[in-house]
Formats: sequence, C-alpha cells, structure tokens
Amino acid sequence: MKFAKSVSGLRGEITVPGDKSISHRSVMFGSIARGTTEIRNYLQGADCLSTISCFRAMGIDIENKGNVVLVHGKGLHGLTRPKQVLDCGNSGTTTRLISGILAGQNFDVTLTGDASIQKRPMKRIIEPLSLMGADIASVKGNGCAPLKISGRPLHGISYTSRVASAQVKSAILLAGLYADGETRVTEPYLSRNHSEIMLNYFGADVRTELPAAASGSLKSGSRENAPDCSEPGILKSTPAPASPVSGVTAVIQPADELHGGLVEVPGDISSAAFFLCAGLMVPGSEILIRNAGTNPTRAGILDVVRNMGGDIALINETAGSGEPTADILVRHSSLHGTVIEGALIPTLIDELPMIAAMACLADGDTVIRDAAELKVKESNRIAVMTENLTAMGADVTETEDGMIIRGGKTLHGAVIDSHLDHRIAMTFAVLGLCADGETEILGAECVNISYPNFYEDLQKLTKK
Ligand code: S3P
Repeated sequence: MKFAKSVSGLRGEITVPGDKSISHRSVMFGSIARGTTEIRNYLQGADCLSTISCFRAMGIDIENKGNVVLVHGKGLHGLTRPKQVLDCGNSGTTTRLISGILAGQNFDVTLTGDASIQKRPMKRIIEPLSLMGADIASVKGNGCAPLKISGRPLHGISYTSRVASAQVKSAILLAGLYADGETRVTEPYLSRNHSEIMLNYFGADVRTELPAAASGSLKSGSRENAPDCSEPGILKSTPAPASPVSGVTAVIQPADELHGGLVEVPGDISSAAFFLCAGLMVPGSEILIRNAGTNPTRAGILDVVRNMGGDIALINETAGSGEPTADILVRHSSLHGTVIEGALIPTLIDELPMIAAMACLADGDTVIRDAAELKVKESNRIAVMTENLTAMGADVTETEDGMIIRGGKTLHGAVIDSHLDHRIAMTFAVLGLCADGETEILGAECVNISYPNFYEDLQKLTKK
C-alpha cells in the first residue's frame, strides 16, 4: 500500500469504529451474565471477532448483526468446555482476559493465537492467577501462549502488579468474580478502567481505591450509582479521576450473578488518534471526529496534543453512555516538543507510535520515557518505530524505556515494514502524507485487526 504527500490538507467528518477494549469486554461479560446483552457499535475488527468465536466455542449464542451484537449470556457457570483449542488470533486482550474467566470454570482448555501472540508475555497473568489457586501453565514453558488452563476453585488475593496493565488487572478481577473472598489488585498507575465500569454496570461489586493524596474510593459504573441515568439499562458511569494518580487498587467481591444489559460502545480514541494527529500534521487540515471515547484513563493523547500546542476542541461532550464521549474538532497546528512519562503513559500507551511520528514534525525535542511496555505489544514498538522513522529521515534515538525525537527534519518517503502491527501501519499511512515522495507500507492489510476500513476513511478525507 502506498501513500504520498497530501498538499491540500484533510477535510471533513469522520466517525471511527467502536472501541476495541470495550467491545471485547461487552462480549466477555455478556457471555457470563444472565440475560441478553445488546451491544451497539461493536468493533468488527479481527481481534474482537476472535473474542466472539472463543465464546461461541464455549456454547454461547452470539448473534453478530454487524453494528449490533446480541449475546445470550448463560451466567457465571454457563460456559461449556470447547471442543478445540481456543484461538485468540492476534489479540492480547482476548488471551489475557479470557484466562481470568477460564481459571474459575470446571473444565480445562488450551488457548493460543498467532505468531505475535505466542511471543507476548503471559507470566504477568500466570503468576497472579496461580496465586489465586488456578492451574494455568505455558505449554512450551516459555511464559507465552499456548496456555493450558484447568478450572479450579479460586481464592481472593491481594496482588501488586509491577506493570500498569488493564489486561493484567482485568484478568485478576474476572477471576475474582469466582473467588471465595475479596480480590485486590494494585497497579503503579491507573490503567484503563473499562472493566471496572462495565462489571459494575453488570451488577458486580468493584471499587477503585485511590492513594490517600487523591480522593479515597470510587465506584464507577454501577446502575445505582449513576445519578444522571435517564434511560434505564443504558451503561452509565461516574467519571474516572480527572488526572492519573499513582498506586491505585481495584477491589472486587465474588459475584453470585451478573446481569446483561445494553452497551453502547463509543468510538475508539485509539483509532481517532490517527485522524487527530493527521489533522494537526497535514497543512490545511480541519477534521471533525464524531463520538470518540474520552474516558480519562484512555484519553491522555488529548493532554499531550494540548501540551504540544495542538488546536483541538471537544464539543458535544456526554457521559450518557457510561463512558464519556465527545466530538473532537482538530485543525492543522504548529507543534512543539514535549515530555511524556509516568502516570500519563498507560492513558495513551497505544497512541505512542502515532505521537512519536507526530513529534518528528514538531519544533524541538520530544522525550518519551517509562514506556518499556511498548516493547511487548503486537511488535516491539520502540525498535520498530525507531527503525521506520529513521528510514524516513527523522532524528530518533531508541532508549531502554522510550524514544527521544528531535523534531523538524525533512521527511522523505520510504519502504516501511509494519511487522504486521496494525498501529504501526496506520501511523506510517498518516506520516506518509507529510513526507516528500512515496511511502510504501509492507503488510498494510494488518489494519484489519482494529480498523478494517482505515485506508478508505483516510482517503475520503483527502478528497474533500
Ligand atoms: C488493553 C490494554 C492495553 C492496550 C491494549 C488493550 C485492554 O494493554 O495496550 O491494546 O483492552 O485492556 P496492557 O493492559 O497490556 O497495557
């Protein structure tokens, strides 16, 4: 797939597909809830289709009608042993979250995924789930998938995770539903809280304890706890803390039953990020991104863009779907470098490739640190970004836990190896619009993982 400099700017409106993290959770939690869960705006990307097929393989009737998905849940103990190995495809979220659910079942199962999934670290869930009494092992003994899980009675634990990871936190919370007592998971910084919000909405008892310096305890998303809830059955939440805080604990009580409901999935801020940055980067651009999720535990890119001098405005802000959303108006801006570190990192972890590329067009240096997690994503995103940005003429230094980008160099087109990482492919499709000459992306079709129509949508904006 090839991209060339856009001279006239990107103009128009875009509605990005549904949030990947929330889509996964809606099918998973809907499957182990009682009743039917109606999911609107479900992401039809390959990752979320993997989640649907895993739960179908465990006896759940899931009607995928395109924009609406109906999950006919069978309750916490209603899953049945799959006949085959569960295939999680390229999806880390499917692999890790499903492990938390499988740990508490009364059957055994093996799960695996593609070549990338079989290289991603699973010890981070094997360790805490084993402490809860789960029988879970890496089949090859290398700490990666395939994983063999034999369901067992589980115990509540108090666990401190070294990484701020919503996948780790969620796996433990899901196992905690099946445990014999309270389960606590502390992470260094608050990671995305979609599980907490949706589990509460489905009737579980999950709360978030903030450090003393912040504001005590927070219960997000419960139906009772949603004073602005005007339409019964619509997912609502109390908002997450406005800014990230350190040392956060999620606490869950064992559940007797979850209850399905209506889930309206907001547009994925991680997909919106490509248009947000494209609008800022390509001269002459003005783009309105409709209905993007702006949950503060996910939307750190908005802070970074503002820090870099980007002209963005949030309009039509709503909390009406349990997860806050807004339309984002973005105009081309002259940008300057910034520092991205600490508690901000988990709130924009998937956007860092795009932000690093954008920093190449900014005046001055951008420093990204505390982001070693980038090395264990769908590709090693520190190495792959450094290699590809350098190929386009950018001045980038790879560090142990991030990158230093010296902005302002003239970029030229190059052949980009996506390493079959969807976010790398989309990042360079955007950066190609800002470089002299042609940029060719190898493995471009991998955008199918999270945004099947990405290139068509980008193309539409160049035609306005
Ligand atoms: C996700 C959490 C993040 C993110 C991933 C989706 C989730 O991973 O990078 O794309 O849905 O919980 P980690 O929890 O490993 O940081």
